Amino acid sequence: MARDIDALTASTLKHLRERWWDDKFTSFLRERLLPRPGNRILDVGCGVGTAEVSLGLLQLSQVRLYGVDRLVDRLRQAVADTRARNIRARFATGDACALPFKDAVFDSTFCVAVLQHIADLENAVRELARVTRSGGRVLVVEPDNAARYWFSSTETGKRAFELGGRFFTALALARGDTTDPSVGPKLPAILDRHKIEPVSVHLFPVSVAHLGAPAASAWASRREAIVASIGRAESESIKRLGADYLKLLDRYAEEAASAGSAFVEIQNTMLFATMGVRRE
Ligand SMILES: C[S@@+](CC[C@H](N)C(=O)[O-])C[C@H]1O[C@@H](n2cnc3c(N)ncnc32)[C@H](O)[C@@H]1O
Repeated sequence: MARDIDALTASTLKHLRERWWDDKFTSFLRERLLPRPGNRILDVGCGVGTAEVSLGLLQLSQVRLYGVDRLVDRLRQAVADTRARNIRARFATGDACALPFKDAVFDSTFCVAVLQHIADLENAVRELARVTRSGGRVLVVEPDNAARYWFSSTETGKRAFELGGRFFTALALARGDTTDPSVGPKLPAILDRHKIEPVSVHLFPVSVAHLGAPAASAWASRREAIVASIGRAESESIKRLGADYLKLLDRYAEEAASAGSAFVEIQNTMLFATMGVRRE
């Protein structure tokens, strides 16, 4: 439950991951990436290797999987997790905006939930295009975090979501974050600018609905996550905003408890999976 009700503790889908990266999503990746014997497939921003493990378990015949990420710790885990399952995948440290590969060496290139974290989006997409052979596939799967749907049956719940959004935006601005939270639906046009012909867009709704007041432990987790975020704030005004947000969250918890079984909370975000083909 605590992991389910997360829109008040993060500005992205990260804690909802288990909800959308399921077997159906892995099958979708396989279908779109079109792995053939001898193919090289690159996962940019591979993180802990979720894609390599999921695709590797499908035992794609003679397909070489590569993952690149800028964080060494994540790559270490990716190496350990693939080895533990006897999956052959190669990993490299690198920046999505300056990939450590020659031109046109991959048959398919993809990224999942990565471009939302990159300020220099055009360069990252240019790099995806550069390393993909002509006629090869590029798949980008990204959300529109700015257009999240939120419903709460209490007025305070609605206000808490709005204040939480302001708090997380202030935190992001203070650390100089200029990434675009709405990148998902913009990608067909961006791919098109970089010699990648957009071919399809597939939407994955990521939804959570709760009926009945959440348990005390769920509110405690929310609190804990917000307190940790306040701890990362450097400016006094953002700390104050965080403190106001915590107070509102506590009131929301009380209202939810009084509403009991009539309490409803719903959230939904869309993931946009755009597939394109590298032009000549
Ligand atoms: C939300 S995680 C997604 C990981 C993986 N694609 C998955 O879906 O499991 C985002 C990943 O992108 C990586 N990342 C962010 N910016 C990057 C950049 N400029 N170059 C390479 N990796 C980057 C992060 O280190 C992180 O591992």
